[in-house]
Amino acid sequence: MKTVYLDNAATTPLRQEVISEMMTVLGSDFGNPSSTHSYGRKARSHIELARKQIASLIGASPNEIIFTSGGTEADNLVIKSSCESLGVNRIISSEIEHHAVLDTVLKMKSKGVEVCFVKILADGSVDYKHLEELLAEGASKKQLVTLMHVNNEIGNLLDVERVGELCEKYEALFHSDTVQSIGHYKWDVSKVKIDFLNAAAHKFHGPKGVGFAYMNKSCKLCPQIIGGGQEKGIRAGTEMTHNIVGMAKAFEIADAQIEHEKQYVLALKKRFIEGLRSKIEGVAFNGLSADVESSTYTLVNCRLPLTSSKAGMLLFHMDLKGIACSQGSACQSGSQKGSHVLSAVLTDDQMQYPSLRFSFSIFNTEEDIDYAVEVLSDFCTS
Ligand SMILES: Cc1ncc(COP(=O)(O)O)c(C=O)c1O
Repeated sequence: MKTVYLDNAATTPLRQEVISEMMTVLGSDFGNPSSTHSYGRKARSHIELARKQIASLIGASPNEIIFTSGGTEADNLVIKSSCESLGVNRIISSEIEHHAVLDTVLKMKSKGVEVCFVKILADGSVDYKHLEELLAEGASKKQLVTLMHVNNEIGNLLDVERVGELCEKYEALFHSDTVQSIGHYKWDVSKVKIDFLNAAAHKFHGPKGVGFAYMNKSCKLCPQIIGGGQEKGIRAGTEMTHNIVGMAKAFEIADAQIEHEKQYVLALKKRFIEGLRSKIEGVAFNGLSADVESSTYTLVNCRLPLTSSKAGMLLFHMDLKGIACSQGSACQSGSQKGSHVLSAVLTDDQMQYPSLRFSFSIFNTEEDIDYAVEVLSDFCTS
């Protein structure tokens, strides 16, 4: 059966070069990086080289990079530690953040931290005027703004420069969940006023179970996982050397090819949108995902004009036809809950219709796109 993978925002396939690099570490350089003998020193040198590479790719210093088990852990580390060790007592976030941020923010609320949510406009974008009002209201407090760069469900892009400037004006700390951004957009933390960002390697053709947090050197975080003194005491546990090396390799390749991949993937996205528009009357796009200037080139979230009985069969039908895509986001598939992002941006009427997220990568082809359009349009028009 033909299979087409269009769920790259959930996770991406590994690059062959990444697998090769990881195999070397898994096979022969298996020492514990904390050991002082030659095996340990070899593993340590892999980790510190990876740290240097990653830091230089985002304009940071190596000591500002903390390795974690992925995006969720890094989000938790930044938000919880900011409250515990940097005195943050007010958080400004949004209701369309990934649950890794949203639930952590709500956890902090349950511990007495004041939390407010910036207004989200009907197209899913942040109301920057309201953000400034919130910052001004809380100016006497120690504030943390946490807003994602690329929304993982609707693809909207945050104006990080603007948010950074606002945070600077009101002396607030700024964290951006950049899990869907790192490896797809160039970052230079020396040019943007940002205190924390984070990444997960599996979103840019690296391995699962590894990520990193960047923390500005003036904002030292405290550990959330304690035990051994790894990662300068900020994140305990024997480092996953092969994963860290794989992440650095994947990031290096993604960065070197970023412009080429952007043009290639953007062309696929445009082809998909045009295909759906020409074949499915009444198709609509959620958030700004069809606006190629204001949304990431990597995904589209479309709403289909289907009756509820047919809607129930949609994802099953796509799977049957070998197409991997996602309803809302992957984190929700299998769960009874609808998407909190779509609930925040769509009207009750729009919510009656099924929405699917399709996300693309350099490994997709025009044939993949045409096949997905054909399967979807056949289903909608039959
Ligand atoms: C925006 C965003 N933040 C955080 C995460 C969580 O990352 P991980 O699965 O690596 O923990 C994801 C994963 O989908 C994401 O899309």
